[in-house]
Amino acid sequence: MAVAQRDPHTGYTTTGHEWNGITELNRPVPKVIWLFLAATIIFSVIYWVLMPAWPLVETYTKGVLGVDQRSSLAENLRIAAADRASWTQQIETRNFAEIQADDSLMQIVRNTGRPLFEDNCATCHGMKGQGGHGFPRLTDDAWLWGADPATVAETIRVGINSTHNETRVSQMQAFGRDGILDRAAILDVVTYVRSLAGAEPTGDERSDSIAAAAEVFAANCAACHGESGTGNTELGAPDLTDESWIYGGDRQSVYTTVYRGRQGHMPHWEGRLSALERKLLTLFVLDLGATKQ
Ligand code: HEC
Ligand code: HEC
Repeated sequence: MAVAQRDPHTGYTTTGHEWNGITELNRPVPKVIWLFLAATIIFSVIYWVLMPAWPLVETYTKGVLGVDQRSSLAENLRIAAADRASWTQQIETRNFAEIQADDSLMQIVRNTGRPLFEDNCATCHGMKGQGGHGFPRLTDDAWLWGADPATVAETIRVGINSTHNETRVSQMQAFGRDGILDRAAILDVVTYVRSLAGAEPTGDERSDSIAAAAEVFAANCAACHGESGTGNTELGAPDLTDESWIYGGDRQSVYTTVYRGRQGHMPHWEGRLSALERKLLTLFVLDLGATKQ
């Protein structure tokens, strides 16, 4: 049975409980604990008075401060909308050159354009606009339709070979499959095209075929790609003299292009993105090239 005893060292009685010779002193709860408990109770009473706290049958105690998360959310939204309106209006009304010259607006373009680009364009053009096989790089100076902001905006609006009724249309016919050129002529013109872009003839490319192919090129290709192969932005026909290839510049890829023809598809964004979003994307895409990210 527990028998309370007095502890000789401290003078307190023990609780009488004993565990293998160890006994427990019977001491009062320390003051600091009482103080802490009192402080929390005082705090909660004050809090109930100031803030919304207790549910009642139909309503709740609203608190004398009148704090309400719904109204503070509405207020935050109103501030955000006002903040947004201050720049959306500027992007909407000012022209491309003015916006491009304005650093603080361009910072907004970079911040708001990136998620728009990643959500809508990156699947084809790559996260950084670097392009991929069949999808043009948007960060270089090689433009199918031209680098002018109004032109880029129009491409985004109507697409290329898209279902929009004003779509840009571009097509390169299948010279091999449709029997326009025989295999030897295609091989020659492939060598020629690669030489335009500065490629050294590889083992099975004869350099004497280049002269013969110049004629084939003039007769079949120059109408779209230009006599010197520098392309035509009226037709979306790429410059063949630069290093930038949509479908690859190796012999096999160029052969496939000429044999099968090409017709890239770029969806139209009118109806899917607002005019403001398309303008932001136009500026964003041009900025990608300008800052060489
Ligand atoms: C389904 C794939 C796809 C998506 C998504 C896509 N594009 Fe394209 N885009 C293309 C293809 C393919 C071309 C090139 C068409 C061609 O070869 O004639 C192109 C061309 C372009 C061009 C013209 C480039 C030039 O050299 O003139 C621009 C600008 C462009 N895209 C911007 C965008 C933007 C901005 C978005 C997002 C809103 C986007 N694209 C979404 C496939 C896509
Ligand atoms: C009717 C106009 C037209 C004619 C004619 C034409 N092309 Fe094209 N070519 C285009 C267009 C448009 C594209 C871009 C297609 C696309 O991106 O979808 C293209 C793309 C190419 C490409 C791919 C470039 C790249 O970046 O990957 C090569 C190579 C090419 N043409 C070579 C030729 C050769 C060689 C001939 C002549 C035998 C020729 N083209 C005749 C319109 C034409």
